[in-house]
Amino acid sequence: NNETVVIPVIVNVVYSNPVNNVSIDRILSQEEVLNNTFASTNFDIGKIPNLFKPVKAGNIKIRFTVVDFKRRKVPAQIWQADKNLMKTEQYGIAATNPNKYLNIWVVDNLDQSSTGYSSFPFEHGRWYDGVVIRAVNFGVTNKNAMYGLGRTAVHEVGHYLGLKHIWGDTACGTDNINDTPQQKNAIYGNPNFPFYTSCGGTRRVAMTMNFMNYVDDRSMYMFTRNQGNRMEYEVSARGHRSSL
Ligand code: ARG
Ligand code: ZN
Ligand code: CA
Repeated sequence: NNETVVIPVIVNVVYSNPVNNVSIDRILSQEEVLNNTFASTNFDIGKIPNLFKPVKAGNIKIRFTVVDFKRRKVPAQIWQADKNLMKTEQYGIAATNPNKYLNIWVVDNLDQSSTGYSSFPFEHGRWYDGVVIRAVNFGVTNKNAMYGLGRTAVHEVGHYLGLKHIWGDTACGTDNINDTPQQKNAIYGNPNFPFYTSCGGTRRVAMTMNFMNYVDDRSMYMFTRNQGNRMEYEVSARGHRSSL
């Protein structure tokens, strides 16, 4: 019943090393990955194990369209806590109206070589509102690389639209999504199915392949129905991101 919401995206490329001045093709590959994964038409969606097929998201009614990109060569190399990359006067690019646009900053490097980070829906419209992605992890680069399929941005946009990590960021915490199984802690790498964790004496098969886990790009390929509903809610008239 609800209409598809198309989120206009501004890509802000803040680079010092020219190799990180990502091409238009890279930007468009990232747009395509976001759209495929939200439509649940990503090439590897068929890998979802039978156990999790009943809770697989269908077509999440959110799409992304890159409406503009900006580029700036800067001297600094590492940002995060001080968010200088989001300030024009401090070697960055200020957000374009974050109430109207999803701003994605593509940067040389992040603290601890982090792959990316995001603001949450309650921070909507703030000057730093948006998603930050380390350039090497932006767009489709290399399907064999740990983060070469553009899924860092999928994960970060998940946060941007209200999703938490499925382990809830604390041992056996909660993501407040009832169709993702409780999981003890972050899962990395390329785990084999089934991969179990235990919480309160109960052993469960972890949904390692969820986009809100910490596995490598080739090992994450699904959102659940309730994660999709949560994101659709945030962009609906009643959500924090209704003005996009
Ligand atoms: N650093 C990211 C965050 O916590 C998670 C990385 C996503 N993982 C991936 N395979 N792209 O927000
Ligand atoms: Zn995360
Ligand atoms: Ca859950």
